[in-house]
Amino acid sequence: MSEPRTPLVAGNWKMHKTIAETKAFVADLRARELPAGVDAVLCPPFTALCAARDALAGSPIGLGAQNMSWAESGPFTGEISPLMLEELDVEWVVLGHSERRALFGELDVRVNEKVRCALVHGMTPIVAVGETAEEHERGLARDKVYAQISAAFEGVATEDVARCVVAYEPIWAIGTGHADTPESADAIMGVIRACVPGLEHVRVLYGGSVKPDNIAAFVAQPNIDGALVGGASLEPASFAALLEGARRGAYA
Ligand code: 13P
Repeated sequence: MSEPRTPLVAGNWKMHKTIAETKAFVADLRARELPAGVDAVLCPPFTALCAARDALAGSPIGLGAQNMSWAESGPFTGEISPLMLEELDVEWVVLGHSERRALFGELDVRVNEKVRCALVHGMTPIVAVGETAEEHERGLARDKVYAQISAAFEGVATEDVARCVVAYEPIWAIGTGHADTPESADAIMGVIRACVPGLEHVRVLYGGSVKPDNIAAFVAQPNIDGALVGGASLEPASFAALLEGARRGAYA
């Protein structure tokens, strides 16, 4: 029997939304009745974090960043430090997203440094892993995810591992409209949970073409506790519908 874990839906806005658009989104979302028993987090671009923080004040919706430096300060042009995020009351941070890894050369060792740094600063890392289409076709998904998870949590104390969230996002499913099947994703999540002590009880999210009409089937799986969502998190009505779908999947 699976243990009760509060489902979590995190919206990763990627490089979308200006400050004005962020304010409008949050105002619209806050005017809606959102389901109880589901945690929601919004991850706007860095430039909109301050506006999002102010607009979300007093609401239960959490604030996350999409990336973070492993260093507190220094000669790192273009980077954002944990101190800067702490000042903005950011409590969650997506680390190791496949777009960071593939397009910006982010290595496992850096993801590990960022995970440690986020934990030191009291933030909850959402550690993203996933295999490419080629690895998927060659039956290497488990090996790839196992290696990424092992590296990301290398040297992290078990009690700190237990404070994290993991997102399994098969790269071939991101932004394609072709989500993994809930059963296949659940099996990979089982591998993730068994990989490092402390991950048995954390929330593991599925990501990759999650929509309001498929989220419930994912969250209904024993190992899946929610979703990390890109495209379908960009409209308030759709984000609210994702929360409702997660509630149905978790509590049906
Ligand atoms: P989509 O939901 O747009 O497929 O993106 C998934 C993702 O990469 C979230 O981090």
